[in-house]
Amino acid sequence: MKTIAIDGPAAAGKGTLSRRIAEEFSFHHLDTGLTYRATAKALLDRGLPLDDEAVAADVARNLDLGGLDRAVLSAHAIGEAASKIAVMPSVRRALVEAQRSFAAREPGTVLDGRDIGTVVCPDALVKLYVTASPEVRAKRRYDEILAGGGVADYETILDDIVRRDERDMGRADSPLKPADDAHLLDTSEMSIEAAFSAAKSFIDTALKQ
Ligand code: C5P
Repeated sequence: MKTIAIDGPAAAGKGTLSRRIAEEFSFHHLDTGLTYRATAKALLDRGLPLDDEAVAADVARNLDLGGLDRAVLSAHAIGEAASKIAVMPSVRRALVEAQRSFAAREPGTVLDGRDIGTVVCPDALVKLYVTASPEVRAKRRYDEILAGGGVADYETILDDIVRRDERDMGRADSPLKPADDAHLLDTSEMSIEAAFSAAKSFIDTALKQ
C-alpha cells in the first residue's frame, strides 16, 4: 500500500503540502480533518447534541467521503465542534474505518490529519510530522483571513490555536503526536517550497526501495 501519512497541528501547512505531494505523485488525497468537520456540521445542521456519543457515531458511520468540501466546512464553529466530537472513541472508530478504505486506493494516497502515522496507517510508506510554533501558525491564519478580505484578531486566533492543540494532544484516544518513525518538518522558518522538496526526497527514496 503506497500511503503518505502527514500529521501535525492546525495551520502548520500540512494541507498545502499534502495537496502538492498528491499532485506530484498523482495520488488520491484525503484531508481527514474534513471527516470530523462534516460529522460535526451534520449534527449542528440537524440540531443534534454534540455531547451524545451514540448519536455522533451514528452520523459518522453514515458519512459520505465523496461530498467533503473545505470551503463549506471551514467555519470556526465547525472546527471547534469537530475537535469536541473527535475525543469520542466510537466516532473515531467509524471515521478511521472509512479513512483506511480510502488509504487502500490505487495507485497511492496521501492522508493528512492528527493520527494518520500513529493509528490510521501505521504501515504508511512515508510519515511526515509537520509543525510550526503557535505564533507562526496564528500569524499565517491571520494573514490568510486578511488576504481574503476578512477581519481578524491575532490574539484571539493564537488563543484558539493553543486551546485546539491542548485538546488534540491531551485526549486519551489517538492524541496528536509524531509517530516514532516520522520525519519531522518544522515550517516555522521554512518555506512551503523547502518543505515540499524535503518531503519529495523522502518519498522518492522510499518508492525506490
Ligand atoms: O485539521 P482540521 O482543523 O480540519 O481538524 C478539525 C479537528 O478534527 C481537529 O482539531 C481534531 O480535533 C480533529 N481531527 C482528528 N483527527 C484527524 C483529523 C482531525 O482528531 N485525523
